[in-house]
Amino acid sequence: MTDRRVLPLLPAHHRGRQGLTCRYRCGDACARPAPNPSANPYFGDLLARAVDRRAVLRAGAVLTVAAGAAPVLAACTGGPGSSGGNGGDVPAGLRYEPVVPNTADAVTVPSGYAQNVVIGWGDAVLPGAPAFDFDAQTSSAQAAQFGYNNDYVGLVPLPGDGERYLMFVNHEYTIEPLMFRDYDEAAPTDEQIRVGQAAHGLSLVVVQRDATSGQLTAVTDERNRRWTASSEFELVGPAAGAPPLQTAADPTGRLVAGTLNNCSGGTTPWGTFLSGEENVNQYFANAQAVTDPVAAARLARYGFEEGASERKWERLDARFDIAQHPNEVHRFGWVVEVDPLDPDARPVKHTALGRLKHEGATIHLAADGRPVAYMGDDERFDYVYKFVSDRTVTPGENRAAREANRQLLQFGTLYVARFDGPGAAPIQRDGSSSGTGEWIRLASGTTSYVDGMTAEEVYVFTREAADKAGATKMDRPEDVEANPRTGTVYLALTNNSDRGKAGKAGPDAANPRADNKHGHVIELVEDGGDAAATTFAWSILLICGDPADPATYFAGFDRSQVSPITSPDNLAFDTHGNLWISTDSTAALDINDGLYGVALEGPARGRTTLFASTPVGAECCGPVITDEFTLIAVQHPGDTEDASPDAPGSTWPDGPGRQPRPAIVNIWHDEDGRPARIGV
Ligand code: FEO
Ligand code: CA
Ligand code: CA
Repeated sequence: MTDRRVLPLLPAHHRGRQGLTCRYRCGDACARPAPNPSANPYFGDLLARAVDRRAVLRAGAVLTVAAGAAPVLAACTGGPGSSGGNGGDVPAGLRYEPVVPNTADAVTVPSGYAQNVVIGWGDAVLPGAPAFDFDAQTSSAQAAQFGYNNDYVGLVPLPGDGERYLMFVNHEYTIEPLMFRDYDEAAPTDEQIRVGQAAHGLSLVVVQRDATSGQLTAVTDERNRRWTASSEFELVGPAAGAPPLQTAADPTGRLVAGTLNNCSGGTTPWGTFLSGEENVNQYFANAQAVTDPVAAARLARYGFEEGASERKWERLDARFDIAQHPNEVHRFGWVVEVDPLDPDARPVKHTALGRLKHEGATIHLAADGRPVAYMGDDERFDYVYKFVSDRTVTPGENRAAREANRQLLQFGTLYVARFDGPGAAPIQRDGSSSGTGEWIRLASGTTSYVDGMTAEEVYVFTREAADKAGATKMDRPEDVEANPRTGTVYLALTNNSDRGKAGKAGPDAANPRADNKHGHVIELVEDGGDAAATTFAWSILLICGDPADPATYFAGFDRSQVSPITSPDNLAFDTHGNLWISTDSTAALDINDGLYGVALEGPARGRTTLFASTPVGAECCGPVITDEFTLIAVQHPGDTEDASPDAPGSTWPDGPGRQPRPAIVNIWHDEDGRPARIGV
């Protein structure tokens, strides 16, 4: 590919974005005080606050809701960026003409590339699912159809079936004001609540690729499955059955109805899918009913709040009312595992991996073959974790092997990361912003390594355990994933505009920018190259933002030759060893979100090039990168300021007159009508 510069490209006009996403995805987390507001160990602060509040309650005082009084997220504004372009040697896999950042209501791909929508909200998943009718949606239809707001995408090939795959997708959250005409936020109908519950969860869909045309299409196959907010899940691992997990409906503490707010995930080497339950606090009402100071502080640490929930599910389903069922909250916030090939296997929630706002979990094998799960807790000033299994993968596809492998994440050790470095030194332009770090043990089986906490408490109240262990507060850890070719681990720190604010943690070596609107990416090398190591070295790969801003950093690559990128979220790797990043920008650069290829080796190391951008109001999730095709999940298209079904913010993917629908998009290299390898 020639070395050429794409013309400056930033859109002249601004389109308001992210109207409802912040509220409906994270319960407006960024507009509220971070639940980890002080120097750790700080759990005592929350405890003291809870004691104070109990005293207030005893005195009969009227409580006022403090939440919402915090300043609006600064990251919702931002200036224009600079140009994208190609320069230097382009590694295989990244040889495409970078997409010009834009604000089009379309998925934009490089010239010579083609796309098709694989499946979207309301399309049939289960055989017999009714056709989608936006104005007459029902909960029974939704439970058989593809859910809302697709995020993680995983693929496993179907053996012996040609170009067929099982595609796993999770549905992070719903945006009811965009799903229903005339939605009344204060008083949703019972059926609207049930539709919302059915639009959450997970989908498993057979997809088929036409190797001649390049199209990938969903098949209504008997192997397809849907899990919703009421499907049965089993809690497994060392805390399963523990008293905090027991409820009136489930005295065993082992059987949970549903999975919620599943964000990113992972595809395991043993052929299962993992999915992280993230901002689960927003579904529960009336945290003020809990007055025991320790329990109240624990609720606060996870962001549970007073009063009604956003979606009012507690009205129909008492388990979402903390006043009536205080332990139900403990049954969410786990990593979920699904075996796509065994319909008799109950999906599980893994207590050994801790309870937090799980972004996802990705697996890399240690030197001795034991699986290691890397995990981020996506909240401002929260932590990076890993779990090292005690066991090794059993080879084979038979039922005994699958059953053995489903135990892998139940036995092992949970760690949290501390990043050591040269303090708050400014970022070194030679790429030497780096340091060492330690994985601090939290618990292993029934053994706790945290003073004053039992192992069960460590698993259920993992944030509190990590506070006590002195973990490093990070700028919203999202995907954490090892490059399968090198074992080097990449951490997407999406942003943290609170970094350095009065009373908040200031910049440190691993989170070097105050008011970090655009996020950064860290490279972590485990000592000895072994994922099971307890010490590591790290350095900063990218400091994102407008490349015209001298505070940005692209591993030393020429900033004038990169595509602007903000708010790195999901990570993936191609077979050449390149990194791929999809973004969740909250409009920080006034460009649509997208998928970027990033060179990691050679003279182009650090160059970001935009490969695909998503429609107006949307976020780019997924992704899956193969040699032949790329899948992205287009989440919340049309979520613009003041958008509604009567005034949609987008008409993607169905066109004028239609409502926007979250959907999965297949992108391939079309060479004179024939599919060709991506990026070569
Ligand atoms: Fe659901 Fe952390 O993004
Ligand atoms: Ca995410
Ligand atoms: Ca995201």
